[in-house]
Amino acid sequence: MARLIFFWAIALALISIVNATTLTRLFKNQFNSKRNLFALNKRALSPQLGPFTFPQKVDHFDWNNHATFPQRYWVNSTNYRPGGPIIFFNVGESDASGFTDYLIEGETSLLAQRLGGVVIVFEHRYYGESNPVSDLSSKNMVYLTVDQSLADMVNFMQTVEEHETLGIPVSFWQKTEPGDPGPFEEFCQAFNNATTPSAQVAAYASWTTAYAANACQNQTQDDYFGTHDPKASKCTNTTLNNADRSWLWQTCLEFGYWQTAAPKGHLTLISRLVTPDYFQRQCQLFFPVSILSSKPRTNYINEKFGGWKLEADHIFWINGEFDPWRSLSVAAPNAPTRLSTEKSPNVLIKDAVHVWDAFWSPTTTIPEPIVEVHNQLVASLSGWLKNFNTI
Ligand SMILES: *[C@@H]1O[C@H](CO)[C@@H](O)[C@H](O)[C@H]1NC(C)=O
Ligand SMILES: *[C@@H]1O[C@H](CO)[C@@H](O)[C@H](O)[C@H]1NC(C)=O
Ligand SMILES: *[C@@H]1O[C@H](CO)[C@@H](O)[C@H](O)[C@H]1NC(C)=O
Ligand SMILES: *[C@@H]1O[C@H](CO)[C@@H](O)[C@H](O)[C@H]1NC(C)=O
Repeated sequence: MARLIFFWAIALALISIVNATTLTRLFKNQFNSKRNLFALNKRALSPQLGPFTFPQKVDHFDWNNHATFPQRYWVNSTNYRPGGPIIFFNVGESDASGFTDYLIEGETSLLAQRLGGVVIVFEHRYYGESNPVSDLSSKNMVYLTVDQSLADMVNFMQTVEEHETLGIPVSFWQKTEPGDPGPFEEFCQAFNNATTPSAQVAAYASWTTAYAANACQNQTQDDYFGTHDPKASKCTNTTLNNADRSWLWQTCLEFGYWQTAAPKGHLTLISRLVTPDYFQRQCQLFFPVSILSSKPRTNYINEKFGGWKLEADHIFWINGEFDPWRSLSVAAPNAPTRLSTEKSPNVLIKDAVHVWDAFWSPTTTIPEPIVEVHNQLVASLSGWLKNFNTI
């Protein structure tokens, strides 16, 4: 569960819109190259969609470092109409091959269909097969920063598009979620069925026991959940394509994002033993010789990007009322009030949890509040894109 929650913590999933003409031309040749058909979670993906690779700079901020690494991406231009936008989806903290469904369905595909656009699914550095280093040892993590990641996207767009276009970034705090595990739903049912507090506790105990057994597999609970042993294999395993490790680095260096108990005096779902120190301790165990300081540099990130005070046009903010990450977003209950304007709409979907709006499929009935958000999104983007062409 923790993995799922981290997995969807999203600051880096960006969807941007840029002019597609040149990109499409450049990709045409690649579409014709031969590739093996490979099966994904839900369906077989046409090999003409990718993956492709882009020679990305290892370090955007050291002009003497000319090294590059292959960064993966996928492209669907079937819906493209001349002048249409690119719907750019940086998958963020995961192997992007698990997200290629977004080339053919989901909100990204809906936008491509309604706006005549191209969908690009882009793999974040240090995830999947997009690695600027040979392993994930402490000293090698140094190129995994928000600044490097943003520069990856800028370099990709500028280089691939031959400097022709300006980006209109549309940042979402959220993205898409696959089906949740069944045992959790069972727990919810059992919890709802329970009529006394002790029966509720019993339901919860039963769920955590099942969860622990499933998570630990052949490891002991101490090995799996323990946070004191620097020799545990989870701390020392530096194999590539380990999203948990890369994501832990990002939280330790820049984000924090730790889900801890509620402050004293408030009801809490999470144990009061789960404190920032509990998470912080892991940082030093996983990355013993590194540039990490004693705390994540959240102040740097908030000051640089504006945090709750970020003001910019052409951002469509979408959040869910019951998203566990809401308190990080501009829709946090204690964030400064943010009006919804034509240049920067701000929508909180009632009753929604994480990334509900990202779901879309032509064969599924979508709940009305989500349809409404999709219509607003398409209307806003259509309006912005008209002006975009004349910039
Ligand atoms: C691209 O996505 C559309 C749906 O928007 C789908 O109909 C089409 O088959 C996809 N293209 C390829 C080559 O798979
Ligand atoms: C909860 O109650 C419903 C209705 O009585 C029952 O069908 C279901 O099996 C119960 N579920 C659990 C997990 O106890
Ligand atoms: C657990 O151990 C069994 C038997 O040794 C083995 O077949 C299985 O692959 C192991 N599972 C994992 C996840 O290591
Ligand atoms: C190390 O991590 C990789 C990637 O997550 C995994 O495939 C591999 O099984 C792990 N090796 C050990 C010895 O735990």
